[in-house]
Amino acid sequence: MNLESIPRRELPSLLSRMPKAELHIHIEGSLEPELIFEMAQRNGIKLDYASIEELRAAYAFTDLQSFLDIYYAGAGVLKTEEDFFDMAWSYLNRAKADNVLHAEIFFDPQTHTSRGVSFATVIGGLDRAVRRGREELGVSASLILCFLRHLSEEEAFATLEEALPYRDRFIGVGLDSGERGNPPEKFARVFARCRELGLHLVAHAGEEGPADYIRDALDILKAERIDHGVRCLEAPDLAARLARERVPLTVCPLSNVKLAVFHELCDHNLGRLLKAGIAATVNSDDPAYFGGYLNDNYAATFAALPELGAREAYHLARNSFEACFVSEETKKGWVTALDEFFAGACGDRG
Ligand code: ADE
Ligand code: ZN
Repeated sequence: MNLESIPRRELPSLLSRMPKAELHIHIEGSLEPELIFEMAQRNGIKLDYASIEELRAAYAFTDLQSFLDIYYAGAGVLKTEEDFFDMAWSYLNRAKADNVLHAEIFFDPQTHTSRGVSFATVIGGLDRAVRRGREELGVSASLILCFLRHLSEEEAFATLEEALPYRDRFIGVGLDSGERGNPPEKFARVFARCRELGLHLVAHAGEEGPADYIRDALDILKAERIDHGVRCLEAPDLAARLARERVPLTVCPLSNVKLAVFHELCDHNLGRLLKAGIAATVNSDDPAYFGGYLNDNYAATFAALPELGAREAYHLARNSFEACFVSEETKKGWVTALDEFFAGACGDRG
């Protein structure tokens, strides 16, 4: 396959049409302002904003915490199983439009159980959407339960207990929310228990927090993938290890710019991560808040970074499939579909 034969002007169409997986999407971060207003109305909740435009105008973040404050407030409109279904169903339809074959979706149960919404309500709605997505859209999806790291270890254990009756409806656990001051070691025992239970393990690390948190997520939590992880290049030994051990990073370029991890997209280190041999992937994080879904992330990042071309597009999509928590056989099928897609794109050159 001569990927270099594909001209740059064809990249936007190639990026949008190529099959891909999304591995870092917070379902509460897919809640669009229109849906927030609709749910507030049907649930009799008064919002702090008079209109959709006013709410959108508040999406001007200076760092992770300034985003999280608005994001948790937005999630406050979710009350019923129908609300959780509608949110996830809306995301899965967007994913389908972006040629996403498989999504591993984060959800934050503590954001809801702390408001009196039961775990059963949350997982009931999300799981119903995931099943319907498989059947009606042909999009494969699974759920990953995230513990909020600003809360205590005890609260994480209590959430795990609540979740266990629904063990068959989620495939793993993650760690999100404010990173600074909440190191991986705070959740060492919860993650050890989840590991014993056979759950997959991932963790946000090296987004705002230091490279050391990435190392600790691997060594202490035994994380199989690192969410964000972009600060790994500050520690060359760690970057070399990530490359050697093929630890996937779920990178979210538009999020990184909105939360001031990088000043502008042209400063982003995605190209350098790939050059260092790291299994980076592209993801949307919280698409309703950061200006776009998965294809918007691919398009904007490739437009901003001249070092990214068709070869990198292929490797990013391939990395996304190889990093999925599915059988080797399923991965192989998706990689074959990707190879066929790119062979077709090269073949079209004649
Ligand atoms: N929760 C939702 N989005 C997040 C992010 N980018 N980092 C940490 N926690 C989050
Ligand atoms: Zn995230």
